[in-house]
Amino acid sequence: FQVPVAINEPVKSYASGSPERASVLEQYKAFYNSTVEIPMYIGAEEIKTGNTANITPPHDHQHVVGLYHLAEKSHIEKAIATSLEAKTKWAAMPWEQRAAIFLKAAELISGPYRDKMNAATMIAQSKNIYQAEIDSACEIIDFLRFNVEYMSEIYEDQPASDKGIWNRVEHRPLEGFVYAVTPFNFTAIAGNLPASAAMMGNVVVWKPSDSQVYSAKVIVDVFKEAGVPDGVINVVYGDPAMITDTVLASPDFAGIHFTGSTNVFKNIWSKIGANIHNYRTYPRIVGETGGKDFIIAHPSSIEKQVATAISRGAFEFQGQKCSAASRVYLPKSKAETILNYVKEDVASFKIGSPEDMSNFITAVIHEGSFDKLAKYIDQAKADADAEIIAGGNYDKSKGYFIEPTVILTTNPKYTTMETELFGPVVTIYVYEDEKWADTLKLVDETSEYALTGAVFSQDRYALTEATQVLENAAGNFYLNDKPTGAVVGQQPFGGARASGTNDKAGSAINLLRWVSPRLIKETF
Ligand code: ALA
Repeated sequence: FQVPVAINEPVKSYASGSPERASVLEQYKAFYNSTVEIPMYIGAEEIKTGNTANITPPHDHQHVVGLYHLAEKSHIEKAIATSLEAKTKWAAMPWEQRAAIFLKAAELISGPYRDKMNAATMIAQSKNIYQAEIDSACEIIDFLRFNVEYMSEIYEDQPASDKGIWNRVEHRPLEGFVYAVTPFNFTAIAGNLPASAAMMGNVVVWKPSDSQVYSAKVIVDVFKEAGVPDGVINVVYGDPAMITDTVLASPDFAGIHFTGSTNVFKNIWSKIGANIHNYRTYPRIVGETGGKDFIIAHPSSIEKQVATAISRGAFEFQGQKCSAASRVYLPKSKAETILNYVKEDVASFKIGSPEDMSNFITAVIHEGSFDKLAKYIDQAKADADAEIIAGGNYDKSKGYFIEPTVILTTNPKYTTMETELFGPVVTIYVYEDEKWADTLKLVDETSEYALTGAVFSQDRYALTEATQVLENAAGNFYLNDKPTGAVVGQQPFGGARASGTNDKAGSAINLLRWVSPRLIKETF
């Protein structure tokens, strides 16, 4: 068995008039004009409880494209029991065979399922085709292929032996089951969290975000066709508190693979602590949570480069990336030029449904998110220490549309310089050029989160200084590039402080959290 070299999946262009564009649009329309009923998947069973919720696209919230069935407590208990039944055979399967299943999943997404993955993500999460392609095609394929490569490195890494002694390590899966809790904003993350634990021989209970159930179903179809055995990844939906409490009450709970909000994760961590005496083993707690990601421009930076990083870093994906730039520090000498470029960019962004492929900005995920963003925008309009210099309008009559919005503040600790908004709103503070060093310290002090950050400078000493002062302020730190767009296999992704456990998605570090190695020393 030869593990293939994991090369990043090429991004398709979907140019106007191309067969790729026609094909994905055809799939989009087919999905859009039908309604799918999505069961829970527990073992071989497809479970319909009759207690359902509707699925509506964020850009067209009165249009129903599907419904999904919600769990009761007994279904979660059943999912746990079913996963544990599947465990023995799955863990005993040679890792190369588990790897082959996930490589097949990557091939299916790269080929026959690509349009389905992209169309489902465009509909359920309102991504334009370019965003969908990067997420629900390329990134998930990359996660699957690179993780297989990391698997081979992990399994083949053996300790030294001596004369008459043979040391070997078995990279056993965790004892129990893993709970995967996944977010709406990346279909790739949703697929990767259950898959990476399962690859390492674990069985999984997976709760996708309510806003991502639609595209999660396509992932489930892929996993089934690729040959993931029944019971290895069990999929449940419903009341998050009930599901989590039921999972955490099980003595077989062995770990959580989480991406979502900081508060939810901290709450789960406390509950795990409260239950610690009930567990067979210390659970692995792996989470990627919030961010308040920064861009800092030095007086030597190139204006256009900084402006493009702000426009793309803050507004691509409607700012609904944990890595999105949401606070910016500009030197006074360059601020006007940079802001003029940003305003030009923002004025050129078209907003609307992802079905029209010329739209750059689509809707935010749901009404709760829309209302929160609108509230902060209104607050900035009213506050004396803030003004809106671009965007600032919103409309939820058909879809949850928020204009890309730039807030300029005179207060470096203004609410939107510190609070995570998770939408297309960026706040900018202008500092006096000679206060560069103070600004770096200020950024560090105000970094409750530490996910991504970017520094722009043509002065190498300034880059070095920023890298040193901000050593704990971002798990992914970019020099002269925007703070978004980490590529699997190239920039393993994750942050610390309130942003997570920094177990780098798409790396061997992450996969190692899903094994409990046994060292065997044999003397002969
Ligand atoms: N990994 C994604 C990015 O870096 C979230 O933008």
